[in-house]
Amino acid sequence: MTDILEARKLTKRFGGLTAVSELSFAVREREILGLIGPNGAGKSTTFNIIAGAYRADSGEISFLREPIAGLPPHEIARRGVMRTFQHNLPFEGMSVLENVLVGAHTRFGGNLFSRKAAAEEREQHAHAERLVEFVGLGELRYASVDRLSFGQGRLLEIARALAGAPKLILFDEPAAGLTRAEAQRIATVIRGIAERGIAVLLIEHDMHFLLPLAHRVVVLNFGAKIAEGTPDEVRSHPAVLDAYLGHAAAV
Ligand SMILES: Nc1ncnc2c1ncn2[C@@H]1O[C@H](COP(=O)(O)OP(=O)(O)OP(=O)(O)O)[C@@H](O)[C@H]1O
Ligand SMILES: [Mg+2]
Repeated sequence: MTDILEARKLTKRFGGLTAVSELSFAVREREILGLIGPNGAGKSTTFNIIAGAYRADSGEISFLREPIAGLPPHEIARRGVMRTFQHNLPFEGMSVLENVLVGAHTRFGGNLFSRKAAAEEREQHAHAERLVEFVGLGELRYASVDRLSFGQGRLLEIARALAGAPKLILFDEPAAGLTRAEAQRIATVIRGIAERGIAVLLIEHDMHFLLPLAHRVVVLNFGAKIAEGTPDEVRSHPAVLDAYLGHAAAV
């Protein structure tokens, strides 16, 4: 299978601390790649580098075979790398559907509030409706976002990211703080995203959530990759067990 994203020897230091160390890995087309590791292992920093929020001290990243390291975040998003944030605030007072239409802005370009062809506007609207339906918020599409529960807000955020027409989507702990039922809903949506041909890079601490979902897993510890393989392979990998036991958390 072809790689959609390739990271080569990424290193990021914060003062004397090496948060990411010579990290290489690839995300393949259509796959769900899990990125795991104990607290402080460098997972979110890796996301920040990929999305352009941080600049790596060294290393390279290619997306669809073109170098992207050092590009501004909006340019990386425009090329098809989207991320969700743990605490991304929706546009208050607007409806679920309107919030997703704002997400479509990156995809269609132009000024959201400028006059545009009616056909284009209808297409955007229909697309946003499909996305809202897809994440399971169809019945709430005209509801104000202020009315959404925490879990529904997470689903809205996913719909907003999808509206930007990503080819790769980055999830940083999408199940954090959710009930088991809400987490299951998110898992179903993530599976559906991969089935639609969008690659997924997923950080998650909850192994009950991640292991059944991921096709492959990359394990970090102190910024470096210590294991990589199928969920079954990494689950029983001695270095992984050591890393997690050392942090008093079991896989
Ligand atoms: N902006 C920053 N400035 C200084 N140090 C940072 C910064 N961001 C992250 N770090 C440090 O880099 C290391 C890696 O942090 P990172 O957030 O990437 O870990 P993580 O694997 O996402 O952890 P967690 O599972 O707790 O979310 C940590 O030691 C953290 O304190
Ligand atoms: Mg993190």
